[in-house]
Amino acid sequence: MKTTSLNNDFREISLNKILPHLKTTTIGRHFKYFTTLDSTNTYCKFLAEKNHPEGTIVISEEQTKGRGTKGRIWSSPRGSGLWISILLKPKITTTDISKITLITSCALYETFKKLGINSQIKWPNDMLINNKKVCGILTEANIKENVVNYIILGVGINVNVSYDDFNDDLKPKATSLKIEANKEIDRCYVLAIFLNYLEKFYNQMINNSSLEYFKIYKENSYILNKTVNIVKNNTVEVVQVLDFDLNGFILVKDLNGIIKKISSAEISLRI
Ligand code: BTN
Repeated sequence: MKTTSLNNDFREISLNKILPHLKTTTIGRHFKYFTTLDSTNTYCKFLAEKNHPEGTIVISEEQTKGRGTKGRIWSSPRGSGLWISILLKPKITTTDISKITLITSCALYETFKKLGINSQIKWPNDMLINNKKVCGILTEANIKENVVNYIILGVGINVNVSYDDFNDDLKPKATSLKIEANKEIDRCYVLAIFLNYLEKFYNQMINNSSLEYFKIYKENSYILNKTVNIVKNNTVEVVQVLDFDLNGFILVKDLNGIIKKISSAEISLRI
């Protein structure tokens, strides 16, 4: 395994603490550690362009320009979260890209369960605990001539973030594993367990060998069978969520009884 670190003595996350728990063969086996970065997704993209191998993980103790979906800023305070990006090179078509977010949600769900914490998956890219956001996923694909070249899977988990670390906007709607479990959580353990589940579901997905992850996704969905507002092109529509398809699209019924499929790329959702 390769390791890189910046010349800085602040180093809480270490391979020595991760390796005893890590059971993967590919994901997380090339490890790039930083104390500070603008965005792990941006750096991971730089590595992808230099042809670094599949499974390379970039992790930073803090991000100065952490990116969320829809151009939002992702708050990434130093030393208290897991701000990570993973380079994936699946041989999939563009319609399958949202499956990556789907399996990641399942891996996060199983990881939190192993810590004794019950979470829910809020389509398309959030994890909730007690109705508050604990984690966000930013899946960015590089596509050339309709073929997926590589994917940068960015995951931000509020592990030991304290209530006071959240800005006033976030306080009512964000949480952390520490807040929910009422104790400090070992980030290295969380990371290793997450990578183990991620590789398991990733292999199931690319080999078409099991739909275990899909069952987990549906059983722990926050929106399935609920009435939600979907926001598309600045208009809000009220729909009932009927089902998911295997690509991570939702099947909804609108107020006129018309059933349609919606991809995560098309909408944002308000419960
Ligand atoms: C969201 O919910 O809006 C997605 C948030 C994704 C944040 C993570 S933190 C690690 C990676 N690097 C980034 O700049 N963003 C993602």
